[in-house]
Amino acid sequence: MIDPATVQRIKDVADIVEVVGDYVHLTRRGANYMGLCPFHNERTPSFSVNKQRNFCYCFSCKKGGSPVNFIMEKEGLNYHEALLHLAKKYGIEVVERELSDEERARQSERESMFVANEWAMQHMEKDLIDTEEGRDVGLTYLTQRGVTDAAIKAFHLGYALDKGFALVDAARKAGFDINVFKKLGLIGTSQQGRDYDRFRGRVIFPILNTAGKVIAFGGRDLKGGLAKYINSPESELYKKSNELYGIHQAKSAIVSERKCFLVEGYMDVIGMWQSGMKNVVASSGTALTDGQIAMIHRFTDNITLIYDGDAAGIKASLRGIDMLVSHNLKVKVLLLPDGDDPDSFARKHTPEEFRKYVEEHETDIIRFKAQVMLDTLKNDPQHRIDAINSVVTSIAHIPDNVARDVYVQECSMILNIPEESIAKSVAQARAHIVQKLKQERLRKNQPEQVTNYTQNQQQPVQSAAAVAAASSNIRTPERQSPQREPLSPMYPLEKAVIKYCVRYAFMKFCSYEDTSNIDDSGKPYIVTLDVLRFVEEELRDSKMQFSVGLFMRMFNLLREMRSGFETYSQQRTLELEERLSAMRKEGYDKISQQALSIDEIRREEQKLEKAITADKEAAIKDICKDYPCRILGSHEEEDIRRLAMELMMEKHHLSNIYLKDGTTELEEDRLSILLVRALDEWKNELINQHINSLFDKFREASRTGDIEQQTKIQAELNSLMNMRKEMSKYIGERIVFK
Ligand code: CTP
Ligand code: MN
Repeated sequence: MIDPATVQRIKDVADIVEVVGDYVHLTRRGANYMGLCPFHNERTPSFSVNKQRNFCYCFSCKKGGSPVNFIMEKEGLNYHEALLHLAKKYGIEVVERELSDEERARQSERESMFVANEWAMQHMEKDLIDTEEGRDVGLTYLTQRGVTDAAIKAFHLGYALDKGFALVDAARKAGFDINVFKKLGLIGTSQQGRDYDRFRGRVIFPILNTAGKVIAFGGRDLKGGLAKYINSPESELYKKSNELYGIHQAKSAIVSERKCFLVEGYMDVIGMWQSGMKNVVASSGTALTDGQIAMIHRFTDNITLIYDGDAAGIKASLRGIDMLVSHNLKVKVLLLPDGDDPDSFARKHTPEEFRKYVEEHETDIIRFKAQVMLDTLKNDPQHRIDAINSVVTSIAHIPDNVARDVYVQECSMILNIPEESIAKSVAQARAHIVQKLKQERLRKNQPEQVTNYTQNQQQPVQSAAAVAAASSNIRTPERQSPQREPLSPMYPLEKAVIKYCVRYAFMKFCSYEDTSNIDDSGKPYIVTLDVLRFVEEELRDSKMQFSVGLFMRMFNLLREMRSGFETYSQQRTLELEERLSAMRKEGYDKISQQALSIDEIRREEQKLEKAITADKEAAIKDICKDYPCRILGSHEEEDIRRLAMELMMEKHHLSNIYLKDGTTELEEDRLSILLVRALDEWKNELINQHINSLFDKFREASRTGDIEQQTKIQAELNSLMNMRKEMSKYIGERIVFK
């Protein structure tokens, strides 16, 4: 448990741009930041980060939220753990009380796997240095291969003792549940039922995810045994095809160098790292996957693949080209001299020589392919055609039109084929690819649309488990839809109202003259209501309240937030005033520097003041809109956070109303109509329900022959039906009005 003040501090300090920035390379787009979504593979950025609202959102996979949410999702942590994670990042000291047994048991399985892996890593790091066997066998081997102490530390290299049960015993002694180690593939069970170490007598290379958590291990054999490497099996933590060795150590260098080197093995990463090229990762001997490329793409647009210059290396470098270029990455290939891998090359040369070699020899991947094709397939015409077509296909996979044209030109020169004929083939192949992509997208989108429909139209917001199941539906459409709570007909109507409350709570909504309250000069006071107050009064006047528990809770939270909002808005308004006065000063300076007539000056000044006023109004609206997001988005309760995000982001593009003349109007400009209509529709439904229940009562009364009761109900029904008629006319008018 963390005390509330500290929790608040963590939430205040955690900045979404900084937090996301640890995982995603963000670029500024106007007031927001954009990057490639870290929750799904994509080639064009749809992940948006809003600094003022302190949340992020993927328009494609719809994941995101506050810094806390982001960390929960990205690191697989629960709310509490995510707060601790952020506290650590920002150096906030947290005094926690000991967990109870029950709480310990409740800790997620995933988390206990992380803990076990972390412990095993540290244990084997220690054994490399602190045991005789570790030093004699492991450390000696590493030293012989020129691995420095700094690298051993940075990559957490370790040694697994050759005893057979060293880790089993140590883990038991430390009080761990051995089953967790079995799931992680660190410990196996023999046919006789004996637990044993799966890694024995090996140098250990821990594999860390981007956030630096241990997800798996690779163990290199030192005895000339059968398997050169043993690796952790796939587990809840480790999906081999989605990970890259060294990414954690490399990510900041990848961003600062604006480039990522990709090599094959553990030792290659370490060798290059020691040569000062720290922006290096390995695919660990397997073919590159979309997921791995997408991970690199989050940090940079440039990637250089490094291969051995022998035939196998060349062949490997040609593999997967189409996939690589389709990511809109700038891909280069570097072949090392025959027989060298990055590790051996790094040992033979100084870092300067290595760097120079890279600069001089890295080649654009398409150009490289064209050249290789030309060299290997000299004169046989049929082979030549195949080769050219294969280059054409690769070019066609590049999403960028201009880039494709440049390559068409270049390859026409290399291959000595007229430009037009290559261009034509590329265009054809491109059309084919685009067609295929469209179909793929359609296939993928269908289940998503279904999910949206159920969420928007009818599904009450639900237990955390149901939400989780619904969102995993996007990925696995064949899964059965989760059990739903019974639907309330009020749900969509109340949702519309709570949506406007969350989006615009503290925005000015309307003013009226309070005739019961006269000021000194005899004029009535002007009362201004913001959206929340307006809804509060409407509900009170009509004796209505939210029937969906979660909406009610949300509404009350918003009301409780009022004083917090005032503090927040004061702070932000101060900043705003500063900015505006700077803007004004600059504007007047500019005007005075121009040679203008008095009239012109006046006009310019008016224009400037108008611009400043508009700016100010927009900024104040933003302040009002930001605050509920900031608070609700990081609320302790999962349901609240989810709902807040959903209401904020839902059908964002539909929030704009498209007018007949082709212009658009923002939702907030029509808010008075939208909100009042939403309230009316809700009221109307309540009246309907009331009428229906009266009908039931009426039937009951006529069955029992209670005439007096019948007349009473009849009267009530008449008045209600009149009300309904008025009401629907009212709603109808408003709809026509739109
Ligand atoms: N690899 C593996 N399992 C194997 C062989 C290789 O997982 N049986 C992966 C490892 O990630 C390895 C990479 O493929 O790092 C490249 O293989 P290789 O070049 O054989 O290994 P190196 O790490 O370069 O080892 P060394 O230089 O010690 O031979
Ligand atoms: Mn090697």
